[in-house]
Amino acid sequence: MRIRKAILTGGGRATRLHPITTTINKHLLPLANKPMIFHAIEKAVEAGIEEIYINTNPGEDSLRQNIGDGGHWGIKIKFFEQTGGPQGIAHVVKQAERFIGDDPFMFYLSDNVLLGGVVDMVKEFNSGNHDCMLALSKVNDPERFGVPVFDDSGRLVDVWEKPDTPPNNYAVTGIYIYGPEVFFEAYENIEKSDRGEYEISSIHSHFLKTGKKVGYKEITGWWKDTGKPADLLIASKLLLDKFDFNNNQAQNYDNCDIKGNVEIGIGTKIAENVKIIGPVIIGANCVLEDCTIGPYVSLGQGSTVKKAKINDSIILENANIDCEKRIFESLIGKGANLVKRSQTDVEGHKMIIGDKTIIEI
Ligand code: G1P
Repeated sequence: MRIRKAILTGGGRATRLHPITTTINKHLLPLANKPMIFHAIEKAVEAGIEEIYINTNPGEDSLRQNIGDGGHWGIKIKFFEQTGGPQGIAHVVKQAERFIGDDPFMFYLSDNVLLGGVVDMVKEFNSGNHDCMLALSKVNDPERFGVPVFDDSGRLVDVWEKPDTPPNNYAVTGIYIYGPEVFFEAYENIEKSDRGEYEISSIHSHFLKTGKKVGYKEITGWWKDTGKPADLLIASKLLLDKFDFNNNQAQNYDNCDIKGNVEIGIGTKIAENVKIIGPVIIGANCVLEDCTIGPYVSLGQGSTVKKAKINDSIILENANIDCEKRIFESLIGKGANLVKRSQTDVEGHKMIIGDKTIIEI
């Protein structure tokens, strides 16, 4: 049966991305100036998905406001609250049971960013009479993920969640396909892990121990779980390298030195002495003056940059950076102000810093 439905994650605590995620849902953080979850939606649509169900934290409406009803992608998107708050990935799927009915479905962690698509994985699930299909990726730090376990003959026999001593260098990514009955049957047979969550790896382990047909497909190109700020910056870099710079206003700016792939949004004003080194995406209505931007920068709409040199950074909308500093590998939140100190006769720095902020001075 063709896979038409997908469940995407939109909830969770995202504590590893604090303080940025204290005011914005992690899945709306921009990667190449597009909310992270839009990249996941587009991969699902490309693989033939027509209905997407996204879980939200109780009482949160920002995803619905930003994503809408799916019309933008020619599909249907609905949202459901995760009652009782975050309790693990398998719990998210359980909560979406009413939307699945008798259909096979894809499950996609929206903070997983990948270069290639999931089309081949869907094809393989369809052709191989599988109960489940897992997307694997080679990583340097498998202990951070679910890890597939193979026996001596190379047969997949188990999945271990975040093992201290991983048996190989593969991660089970956050992209899975299931036949409906098998999933919910397995859910009834698992228990919460030590971190208090219904783990998706427990479901996969149960499948393998009860003789279900679990296939896997290695993700080609790269895959990134954007759980931590450093991962987010790497994912941004990888996306900017492959970004299709077709909405390019950059040629309209003959007063500035532009090198490489650069996209500049409508209404952005560029004054004297500005250098932009692509790949760089600059949103609409920004102001740039006497600064160097790039490579690997995305600057949210309405932001101002003066005097600074910025590379390898994600800057959200309406930020104001006006200081003679080099800024790199940074994640700067909405409306943040990074300015030259006003009392030059006093030594030191004056700051208003939110909880759990990280500053290196
Ligand atoms: C979750 C899963 C893990 C998987 C990872 C992929 O981990 O539990 O098996 O490898 O997503 O992104 P978490 O992000 O909850 O730590």
